[in-house]
Amino acid sequence: MILEKIEALKGQIKDLHASNEEALEALRIKYLSKKGEITALFNEFKTVAPEQKRELGQKLNELKNLATEKIAQIKESVQTQAKEQNKIDITRPSFPAELGTRHPISVVRKQIIDIFSRVGFTLADGPEVEDDWHVFSALNFAADHPARDMQDTFFIEQNKDDVTRNIVLRSHTSSVQVRTMERKQPPIRIICPGRVYRNEAITARAHCFFHQIEGLYIDKNVSFADLKQVLLYFAKELFGPDTKIRLRPSYFPFTEPSAEMDVSCMLCGGEGCGFCKHTGWVEILGCGMVDPNVLEASGIDSTVYSGYAFGLGIERITNLKYMVKDLRMFSENDVRFLNEFRSAH
Ligand code: PHE
Repeated sequence: MILEKIEALKGQIKDLHASNEEALEALRIKYLSKKGEITALFNEFKTVAPEQKRELGQKLNELKNLATEKIAQIKESVQTQAKEQNKIDITRPSFPAELGTRHPISVVRKQIIDIFSRVGFTLADGPEVEDDWHVFSALNFAADHPARDMQDTFFIEQNKDDVTRNIVLRSHTSSVQVRTMERKQPPIRIICPGRVYRNEAITARAHCFFHQIEGLYIDKNVSFADLKQVLLYFAKELFGPDTKIRLRPSYFPFTEPSAEMDVSCMLCGGEGCGFCKHTGWVEILGCGMVDPNVLEASGIDSTVYSGYAFGLGIERITNLKYMVKDLRMFSENDVRFLNEFRSAH
């Protein structure tokens, strides 16, 4: 009887398996606990005839060892399995975080602001939607000046019946000169970066909006030599210490005298190349001494104060520094283009 039970249990135990700790514990209870099947056999063993005890005892012990071993084996495999499942490979590379880049216009704007900040210019600001006074009239534009034509400037309809021409999208940052002079008396030393709008067809070389930086310095005894010196400093800081500048006479309604500034070509160093059309020079900004009419229009005594102003296009400078051929690239948000400025700062 008991021998058969031993053999039957042996067969069962060989095939035991468990996939988790609970199932394993259930097996241990079933066979090896105080109320387990093997323990029951040991109790039964007490009643067998003495001559059978030796052989049966041995078999029972074998069975118990077999069960203990098997359960230990299962325990080990359950544990390693659990470990595998919880394992996190901390050396695995993470999902790459796409880092953005600064826009080239922002990069160059910051460079220019830094250069002028170092010689005492502070930032000024003004609205992009402006009135005629700040964009034109206060800046000495004659009533029939072509910039006041719809073909050059975006006008904003003020009310439906009367298409007034009073409100415009500013066509240059010179409006901030006026706003600053209205607010405070000299000394004034500001730069104003900002977006401007012109009614142009969009091509590789022209856009209906772009960015300028305006500079204005007003104090007693400010001369053209001061203007030239600050612009030379600026050009050398921006394009390198060997850069030369030249000023050509020009005309703006709000400056007298007025000039346009060229820098020596950054590609050929002034020798003449295809880029500078073999002149050795490239134009970068407009400037001049603030016209006394402009000072007076904003409440500054032109017999006491004088000043200079300059205005430059950030896109133009960016093109010169980074050789961007098509202006439209700046506003298309093509990440392949923007990523090229990853290392710029
Ligand atoms: N406002 C002029 C332009 O947009 C540039 C300029 C600014 C010229 C200041 C002289 C002085 O072309």
